Amino acid sequence: MAAKLIKGAEVAAQIREELKKEVEELKAKHNLVPGLVTILVGQDPGSISYVTAKQKTSHELGFYSIQDNQEPDITEAALLALLDKYNKDPKIHGILVQLPLPKHIDSNKVLYGINPDKDVDAFHPVNVGRILIGNYAFLPCTPAGCQELIYRAYGDPKGKEVVVVGRSNIVGKPMVAIMLQKRVGANATVTCVHTGTPKDKMIEHCRRADILIVAAGVPNYIQADWVKEGVCVIDVGVNRIGMTESGKAKLAGDVDFAAVSEKASFITPVPGGVGPMTITMLMKNTVMAAKMAAGLVKL
Ligand code: GUN
Repeated sequence: MAAKLIKGAEVAAQIREELKKEVEELKAKHNLVPGLVTILVGQDPGSISYVTAKQKTSHELGFYSIQDNQEPDITEAALLALLDKYNKDPKIHGILVQLPLPKHIDSNKVLYGINPDKDVDAFHPVNVGRILIGNYAFLPCTPAGCQELIYRAYGDPKGKEVVVVGRSNIVGKPMVAIMLQKRVGANATVTCVHTGTPKDKMIEHCRRADILIVAAGVPNYIQADWVKEGVCVIDVGVNRIGMTESGKAKLAGDVDFAAVSEKASFITPVPGGVGPMTITMLMKNTVMAAKMAAGLVKL
């Protein structure tokens, strides 16, 4: 079987169109403009390109949007004070601190310093807890993007065997929590395998998957003989494996794309699969945060 490509860029563009209309309506009917601040500490090139893309999209959607650049030697206390300023700013509904942060800053303390109702990354422990109990407004952007792609391309995962490879706080763990929800777009039987799983067990579990979601951070990790015929594969990996001739980073996912796509029914490419969805989900969360702040939706 040659897999159908799940084109994240197309799905993301469609969702952004929907959001743009919603933003226009919020402006016209409620005089409400979603506001997002992205905070960048230092000059990591990867982080710069991520926040630049987030700002570009939020401007395109008509948000009030601020890019706040801070020096790499900013103190933890000064960063917390900055968050406090944005926590209190009524024009700002979403606050995102780009990770990773310099080593002298405790990332957890910073994430805890964001008002959970403005935490559009959904990394604050209050939001993590809300997701686990199924009473949430935001989902973390990357796993939320994976869920959208599964639902729109493959269909409802209800009752399916979902195997998540990886247990990071940003992707693997929330992905498990999302797929466990008793809701449309979830309600699956979920297994999580990780670095503590022996290799033979890892392969055994992957072979059972109807839907395999991979966030392992190892290029071309998942092999064709680890998957069953007809599986839907979501590859979250973004591994830089060199340079293209034009000087751009050459990317590989966590899945041996060429071989696995011979067996899969659906597969996300890298790049162009999950990646474009992440920023779009951030925009969706920011619109939700604005609506919550205005009392238009409640938890
Ligand atoms: N760095 C890599 N991914 C992310 C993300 O989703 N959010 C933030 N804030 N930083 C990141």
